[in-house]
Amino acid sequence: PLPREFENPLPIPPVLRPVRRDSDTDYYRVVQMPASVEILPGSRTEIWGYNGMFPGPTIRATSGRKVVVTHQNRLPIPTVVHLHGGKTPPEHDGYPTDLVLPSGQSHIHQLEGHSLRVIGHGEYSYEYPNQQPAATLWYHDHRMDFTGPQVYRGLAGFYLLTDDQERSLPLPSEDRDIPLMICDRSFDEDGSLMYPSVDPSLMGQPGVVNEYMDGVLGDVILVNGVPWPYMNVSRVRYRFRVLNASNARRYRLVLDPPPPEGYSFTQIGSDVGLLESPVRLHKLEIAPAERYDLIVDFSAYQSGDVITLRNELGNGKTALVMQFRVSGKADEYSQIPSRLSEIERLAASDALVRRRFVFARGVARNSSHTSVAPVAMWTINGQPFDPMRIDADVELGATEIWRITTNVHHPVHLHLAHFQVLSRNGGPPGPYDAGWKDTVDMGQGDTVEILARFDGYKGKYVFHCHNLEHEDMAMMGNIRVS
Ligand code: C2O
Ligand code: CU
Repeated sequence: PLPREFENPLPIPPVLRPVRRDSDTDYYRVVQMPASVEILPGSRTEIWGYNGMFPGPTIRATSGRKVVVTHQNRLPIPTVVHLHGGKTPPEHDGYPTDLVLPSGQSHIHQLEGHSLRVIGHGEYSYEYPNQQPAATLWYHDHRMDFTGPQVYRGLAGFYLLTDDQERSLPLPSEDRDIPLMICDRSFDEDGSLMYPSVDPSLMGQPGVVNEYMDGVLGDVILVNGVPWPYMNVSRVRYRFRVLNASNARRYRLVLDPPPPEGYSFTQIGSDVGLLESPVRLHKLEIAPAERYDLIVDFSAYQSGDVITLRNELGNGKTALVMQFRVSGKADEYSQIPSRLSEIERLAASDALVRRRFVFARGVARNSSHTSVAPVAMWTINGQPFDPMRIDADVELGATEIWRITTNVHHPVHLHLAHFQVLSRNGGPPGPYDAGWKDTVDMGQGDTVEILARFDGYKGKYVFHCHNLEHEDMAMMGNIRVS
């Protein structure tokens, strides 16, 4: 039976303490390990977690100050960590075939023709320069072919980057600045997480079984690792940093009942930074990996009101996310400034190069993924991922227009480059496209043009669909910045 909704309070993932700090760097240690936790009341679930937690601990960083995170791998499988939304040198970006082996394991089985690179035996130190503005980033596993099953088991956490500009704004802070990691999971009778995975010790084939190539959906909605939690709030403004960490599920979020004026949320930030000015939203559609920085003003409600955060794209219990219980008035110190940040507006005339990418289902022959017969896969421009093939050769610092077309829903994510949406289906950007993005939500048959700037570092980076089963089934390409 599914757990009852709104029975458990919303937990906030703990903020990780550095083990050491020096003049320009904070050093952290994280142990990736299995743990047995109570997610469903009365039963134990084995997860794979950063420090044994799901979500992992939150890392708080400041622009311009470096962070080094040493991840120790005490899991039974190889791992690699990606800081999603980070501008990171390539050797620290979590390239999918860069693997950190479990402590004590000295080699990996590998199918012929599959090019894996071992970057760490037991541990690896990832360096993050944080040369980018305040934003809600997250870190998660990115192992080739197995990102879906490994994130599903719990390998995901927040990385909140701040800067002076953000700190100068009178936004809700401290216990009114709440990260919300929303994801769906399914559980077996015995409480274990149910994921239709192949043997994770095999390399060179997608981690999910074929029947689930569309994506794995769960019937339990978790927020910060708890099924349908509730949160007590005062009649003041709160800031919610909403992350859709689901493998494949999209949500359309709305408050029920909505505030009197009808706008559930005021958006102040997108994937990789604050907006220029706030945007009021009746509802919010959010695809896997996207982040929306939102303000909700509970002074529009009365003490004693109970508000449900609903998902209009779900049905039955997946239409529910969490609940807010409004109690007394508290001191209101926050405001929503009409000007949040300075955004350099990229223009089509800044772009010297145009590329086209078609994200669609295809058939893979002879790819690194197929030791056997041709098999259905997800492809970009008809090709499944090949770690050796460069799909976009980009000049460092260049701005490019990428015209992306999809057959079904695909959240398209670029590593390294942040982008702005230039057009959607020939018209202006959509209601959720504002600001700097690293992931663009694309619907069935959509064509979106983005203006992407490839600055930061030279090297090889990936872009891919962030439906994790599509990603594991080869919907990924390489960018080479030189
Ligand atoms: Cu969040 Cu390449 O991924
Ligand atoms: Cu996809």
